[in-house]
Order: sequence, then C-alpha cells, then structure tokens
Amino acid sequence: MNILAADDAGVSRAAAHLREGGLVGMPTETVYGLAADARDPAAVARVFEVKGRPRFDPLIVHLPPGDPLRALAGVTSPVLGWSRRGREHLDALLAWWPGPLTLVLPRGEAIPDLAAAGLPTVAVRMPAHPVAQRLLAAFGGPLVAPSANRFGRVSPTTAQAVRDELGHAAGYVLDGGPCPIGIESTIVAVEPDGTVRLLRPGAVPLEALVARVGPVATDSDRSVAPGSSPSHYAPGVPVRVVHSPVERLELDELTSLPRTGVALLRVLGPVEPAVRALESAGIRVEEARTLSADGSAAEAARHLFAALRALDRPGIACVVAELPPTGEGLLAAIGDRLRRSAGSPGGLDGGGAGGNGTAPAEDA
Ligand code: TXA
Ligand code: MG
Repeated sequence: MNILAADDAGVSRAAAHLREGGLVGMPTETVYGLAADARDPAAVARVFEVKGRPRFDPLIVHLPPGDPLRALAGVTSPVLGWSRRGREHLDALLAWWPGPLTLVLPRGEAIPDLAAAGLPTVAVRMPAHPVAQRLLAAFGGPLVAPSANRFGRVSPTTAQAVRDELGHAAGYVLDGGPCPIGIESTIVAVEPDGTVRLLRPGAVPLEALVARVGPVATDSDRSVAPGSSPSHYAPGVPVRVVHSPVERLELDELTSLPRTGVALLRVLGPVEPAVRALESAGIRVEEARTLSADGSAAEAARHLFAALRALDRPGIACVVAELPPTGEGLLAAIGDRLRRSAGSPGGLDGGGAGGNGTAPAEDA
C-alpha cells in the first residue's frame, strides 16, 4: 500500500483510483476509513473482503462537503411523509455536519443493497477533515468508508497504522496525519416520528445531542445495535478492564492480576500512583501509559487507539485498562471502546446483538 502525501497530486491520484473501483485509505477527523465508490457494488464488495467483514454489517456512506440536503439526495429517501417533529430533529442533527455525527436514515436508490447490508436504512455522515473533503469533492460522489482496520481490530488513527492493518490489500492511503479526534463518530437513528436513538457512543457526546433534540433513546432492545460484538477494537494482546483506579482496588482484585508482563493503561492523570500500587502487590509493570497526564478527555480520545496498538508488542502479556471515572462526554465513548477491546459486554447496549432481527450485529 502506497502512502500518498495529501497534496493536489495525491488527492487526484486517489480520486482516480476510486473511480476505477479501487480502495483508498482516507483520513477523517475521527479515524481513518477504507473508502470505495458507494454506488459501485463490486468496489463495495472489495471493502468487505479486504476487511474480512461479514456482509451483514453495513457501511457508513460519506458525503462530499456542501449543502447537506443536496448531498443526501438519492443517498437517502425523501422525508416527505415525516412528522414535523421528525423533520425538526433531522434539521437539528444536520447542524453537526460536516462533523463526527452519523445519521441512520431511510435508504435512497443510489446505495446498493450490499453497502447497507440489505437494510432499508443507510448510515451517512459528512466528514469535517479537510483531506476527506478534498478527496470526496475530487471524486464527486458518495464513498463508503468503514474504519480501515481488519474486522474486530483497533481502528487506525494514522496512515502508517492503516498500512500495518491492511498491507497491500488497498492501493493507497492518503496521509492526513494523526486523526484529530481519534474515536469514531456517534451514530444515531432518526425516525419519522422524531424519535432519536443512540446506536453507538462516539465523538459527539450524548449530552450535546440531548441539548438539541431532547431525550435520546438508548434502550438496547429496540435499537439496531452496531458495534455490539462483545469483542471488538481488540489488539492482539489480551485487555483486562478494571472499574476503578488500581490504587483503589481491593486486594483480591489486585492479586488476581497477572504477575508479569503487565502494561497499565490509564485514561486520565499520571500513572505513578497506579504503578506503585501494582508493584507493592508484587506485580511487575512492563510499561505504564496515560492517555492524558493532565486529565483532558479530548486528548485521551486522540491517544486511545494508538496506545492500544503500541501496547500490542512482545513482552506484554496483558494490558490492564482502567475504565474512566465517569461516563460523561467523550469518556462514555472511551469506556465503551475499552470494554469492547477487552471483549467484555456492558455499557450502552449490553453487548447483545440488535433485537429486531434485521440488526447488523457487528461493528468493524
Ligand atoms: O467515525 C466513523 O464513523 C468512521 C470513519 C471512517 O467515518 N467509520 C466507522 O465505520 O466507524 P465502521 O464501519 O467501522 O462502523 C460503522 C458502524 C457499524 O457498527 C455498522 O453496523 C453501523 O455503523 N451501521 C452502518 N449502517 C447502519 C444502519 N443502516 N443501521 C444501523 N447501523 C448501521
Ligand atoms: Mg470500525
């Protein structure tokens, strides 16, 4: 896979490759995506193949920058029959575009069955990253782009991580530098009566959505549950989550941890107190990382996936990851990803597959 500089030549080369049905690693403000022409079923099929992603798990369609309603034409179906509340909520949510909010809406005729895994809905977003916008504008149409990792693994946040994940399977990756947010978009479904359902916590905090549209449904059983595979965002090394700072764990919890090959992953704050607690319990700490020494959730999100990748190395037998202290704002999404990287259900959707029989059951 060639890493292309994100200059005019790189962008037009990548756009030409997409027009020929090829795949391109595309930086976005959240994570890198593996882009393909959303209207070309053969190109979309290659995305599933390269990721090793099951075909029942639908992709997100990315739209070129511009007026949202115009960009949605054909990609989603018109909202003519919608209630007034439904149209108001849709308008309020579209105010996040371009940005890291994905909307699940009725699917339009331009999107082939495979991209949406046969569902009557389609997930769409308009990315804010300047390189994604230039690529989409040069290509001139919608691109599917799941996170550019192999199925079930950690999402890439640099061009090099995309290459490490996919090797030569995709032609190019555009180098947009490290992703500024570092965690995937928030996904909500908007229904004709105005109901808004959270399907995946992410870069836009739930509280911010509630401030705009009022109560957001988060119940698992009626939600189509993307990302519900209990094992996901998983590095090769096993991850074990603990629910409080290790210096506050009960002794039996501490002594149940492995004695050697331990890496500590703290979300906020300095690691020293945790390392001292582990070492005084006779646990050898190979490496200790904090995602943000000075306690910034935004910085922690930006570093999360790179840290999981870096800790997946010889000499480390287990990553002990502390869940964040609260589930507010970005910390909710960070906690969700850590639980999934550990393969433990819980959090938003309890790790269960969607309950309505048409649900995509995996995130990737
Ligand atoms: O930030 C992001 O959203 C990144 C960047 C590249 O844009 N993309 C991303 O895509 O995270 P992916 O494929 O890794 O995750 C998409 C999730 C999956 O869990 C899928 O099941 C869900 O979106 N999804 C897609 N279409 C859906 C639909 N029609 N209804 C419900 N869930 C859907
Ligand atoms: Mg993914």
